[in-house]
Amino acid sequence: MQIGIIGLGYVGLPLAVAFAESGCEVVGLDVDQSKVEALNGGRSYIEDVPDAALEPLGERLRATTEYAELAACDAVILCVPTPLSDSREPDLTYLVESAEALAQVLRSGQLVVLESTTYPGTTRDRLLPILETSGLTAGSDFHLAFSPERIDPGRTDYTVKTTPKLVGGVTAASTERARALYAEICDTVVVLSSPEAAELSKLLENIFRSVNIALVNELAQLCDRLEIDVWEVIDAASSKPFGFMRFDPGPGMGGHCLPVDPFYLAFKARQHDFYPEFIELAGKVNQAQPSFCVERIERALNSIRKPVNGSRILILGVSYKGGVGDTRESPALKIIGRLQDLGAEVSYHDSFVPELPGHGLANAELEQALREADLAAIVTAHPDVDYEQVVARAPLVIDFRGVTREIEADNLLRL
Ligand SMILES: NC(=O)c1ccc[n+]([C@@H]2O[C@H](COP(=O)([O-])OP(=O)(O)OC[C@H]3O[C@@H](n4cnc5c(N)ncnc54)[C@H](O)[C@@H]3O)[C@@H](O)[C@H]2O)c1
Repeated sequence: MQIGIIGLGYVGLPLAVAFAESGCEVVGLDVDQSKVEALNGGRSYIEDVPDAALEPLGERLRATTEYAELAACDAVILCVPTPLSDSREPDLTYLVESAEALAQVLRSGQLVVLESTTYPGTTRDRLLPILETSGLTAGSDFHLAFSPERIDPGRTDYTVKTTPKLVGGVTAASTERARALYAEICDTVVVLSSPEAAELSKLLENIFRSVNIALVNELAQLCDRLEIDVWEVIDAASSKPFGFMRFDPGPGMGGHCLPVDPFYLAFKARQHDFYPEFIELAGKVNQAQPSFCVERIERALNSIRKPVNGSRILILGVSYKGGVGDTRESPALKIIGRLQDLGAEVSYHDSFVPELPGHGLANAELEQALREADLAAIVTAHPDVDYEQVVARAPLVIDFRGVTREIEADNLLRL
């Protein structure tokens, strides 16, 4: 089988590798020439895909910028970004552009699957009409389905193979083609009645996380006032073997998904005169969390008679989650920006992120940065940092991730 993957990012590349590993011929397409060159040179730029995973694939995984090369594929999977516009509305520009280019080369018998996260109705109402400009009809000449990606970058306990895959096609035949496609690489394929149900299922998964993270973030703010250790409370509640699911508070939500996806559903809901309160409230609480962290930093410095203005503040971890270098929507960026506005001399250490050009900063060497800092704030916990050493070397440490819970020290504060 020949598979085309459009968009070779955090979602598309691991998927391309999974299909190539299963024996399929894979053509990966990206508009980013540097990614195409890297892959064709055997170099990966995604943490979850080591170079060593590309080598045995040889010619089974090729990258290109030419849509014409997709014409030979049995199935084409779209994994392009679905961000928000400046006015926090769905921005389907990448999807529309890639679909228009695909329509130029679409041929009879092909299966097209959308994996990008989006609001219910996108596959049928937006993608299908564009693909039909090819002159072919969906459901008969070509097949069309939605199958949400569930990848969690940095996670190793569940893989593309072991994470159940949802599929919903625009017709029963499209659904069956999509089921058979993913059965090549996934142990379990869950069949839904429509693309809309599959689109909404993905949004539910992410909104569920967003709402629960907002709940514990709010609890962390309350615990701060009550002088109760929020981590102790969450550890205790987590001992209940049923009816409770653990979520941890932190500096706010980041990444391409959780801060973005709820707005996709809110947009769709508004079109139907429906205002989903949980979604908006969770977004509000989570967006406010970086400001709360800045306030905690101000108070921490105040306790040692220092103003933020002029203080040297070291931010540990600037990507949105541990073990990855993705800084999209990272709360660390908001925290750094606010501290810089207040006059702090901010530095950061994150071995996954070489520079933050928007803030005029580059990754600082940890030992020296700890020696020079007035305060170190743990914003994202990466596995390669020794937090005992951080607490031992920095004059004052504030931990927004709860990774120092085993450490007792006078210079240590926690969320
Ligand atoms: N990153 C995640 O953890 C994750 C998890 C589940 C779902 N998703 C969803 O998957 C989709 C892709 O996310 P991602 O994180 O892989 O994004 P990404 O930015 O890492 O990768 C997207 C790729 O698409 C390419 N691209 C953009 N326009 C294109 C075009 N017209 N033609 C060809 N390639 C084009 C970009 O150059 C980029 O390499 C989004 O809808 C996202 O919400 C992401």
